[in-house]
Amino acid sequence: MADRQNTNSFTLTNNQTGESVDLPILEGSVGPGVIDVRALYANTGHFTFDPGFGVTGSCKSALTFIDGDEGKLMHGGYSIDELAEKSDFLEVAYLLLNGELPNKAEKEEFDYAITHHTMVHEQLVNFFRGFRRDAHPMAILCGVTGALSAFYHDSTDINDPVQQMVASRRLIAKMPTLAAMAFKYSMGQPFNYPRNDLNYAENFLHMCFSVPTETYEVDPVLADAMDKILILHADHEQNASTSTVRLAGSSGANPFACIAAGIAALWGPAHGGANEAVLTMLDEIGDRSRIPEYINKARDKNDPFRLFGFGHRVYKNFDPRAKVMRDSCHEVLNKLGIKDEPLLDLAMELEEIALKDPYFIEKKLYPNVDFYSGIILKAMGFPTSMFTVLFAVARTVGWISQWKEMIEDPLQRIGRPRQLYTGPTERSYVEMDKR
Ligand code: SDX
Repeated sequence: MADRQNTNSFTLTNNQTGESVDLPILEGSVGPGVIDVRALYANTGHFTFDPGFGVTGSCKSALTFIDGDEGKLMHGGYSIDELAEKSDFLEVAYLLLNGELPNKAEKEEFDYAITHHTMVHEQLVNFFRGFRRDAHPMAILCGVTGALSAFYHDSTDINDPVQQMVASRRLIAKMPTLAAMAFKYSMGQPFNYPRNDLNYAENFLHMCFSVPTETYEVDPVLADAMDKILILHADHEQNASTSTVRLAGSSGANPFACIAAGIAALWGPAHGGANEAVLTMLDEIGDRSRIPEYINKARDKNDPFRLFGFGHRVYKNFDPRAKVMRDSCHEVLNKLGIKDEPLLDLAMELEEIALKDPYFIEKKLYPNVDFYSGIILKAMGFPTSMFTVLFAVARTVGWISQWKEMIEDPLQRIGRPRQLYTGPTERSYVEMDKR
């Protein structure tokens, strides 16, 4: 992992006592350097303070880099635009897990291994039966993924590289199966077993949409669009759900439990739940005449409403994934013969108006990955409740790659942030009759 400890440093001086401390600067291979504050408390008796970790580097990582100002995203040095156009999801998964694109033999072995781990233990079916039919698929996925650790005792030893690899491949292979089962369960339809003659995206569509009463042929256009959507959602530096996986993993929790924690964090509407929230928002706006009303709500400091699908902690330019998604949107709708999709028209109108609005320009709020994804997924036949589930299927690859990198990082130890205490100072207990 390329990082350069140079002689450069920042000197921090307490302007009352005159005390100062030199804090080394660490430089990565690209992007902002970091100020190494590990010795800060020992030398100053002070912690850093950064709610939301907006400017805090939690780890060294070689997997993904985002240039927020330029709107660029790359995995292992390869731009997301190139990977979306030329690669496939399992090849991106291999790249994230191993740091290099696979050669032909490596790709064939990896594809074969993933394909032959897609079935889940038949007992797991009983877990689904415990949920109400109207349970949110994310609630089901979160619960059943955590339950996987009860079935795979042979791959929960995080310090055994072989068990790490087996657990990683099991999670990548089984997440689509569990996601499709959650979808089928919510519709009261029978589960489909995976098919080894189909590729990853085709198999997922088969498990979601095939019914026993007729032959289901996977539409290659939809399979290609699904594979691209999975690539676009695979990994994204230390976002909220990935940081959750790393923090859970830092305690030594098994990888299945860590991924379940990541699914829970992804569910929030400020994060992966935004794709579902975008569709709900577009349905609520309903007509282009109401767009100014919602833009004003989004600008109003006193209104908690946020324009879902807009803004990002890191991107202060177009999310490159949103651009690919928007192009794919048009492709899928055209291929499906959906000439006028009112939601897409509304979304494009909303994007055009928002991008010209002084508030959005000043705050550098651009469409993010969630703005268009829901429109494609709806056109493909998925209900909004499944959108974040699909995000979780894709992000499992990023989560488990980041988890593996953390386990292998000699610098990593249990995550344990500190705080600025603002509660009462020490006081004696007051008996009930004296309160
Ligand atoms: C994902 O981190 C990742 O990489 C995440 C992700 C991934 O791949 O893992 O990219 C996936 O989560 C994409 C984001 C999906 N979420 C949404 O679309 C929800 C709407 N967006 C906002 O909630 C918000 O933009 C966040 C949560 C995405 C970013 O939060 P930040 O960085 O904490 O932004 P902020 O709230 O500090 O915003 C800065 C300013 C604020 O105004 P001021 O306090 O400076 O006056 O911009 C405003 C915010 O009020 N703002 C918005 C807005 N987003 C930010 N105002 C209206 N509408 C919005 N969407």
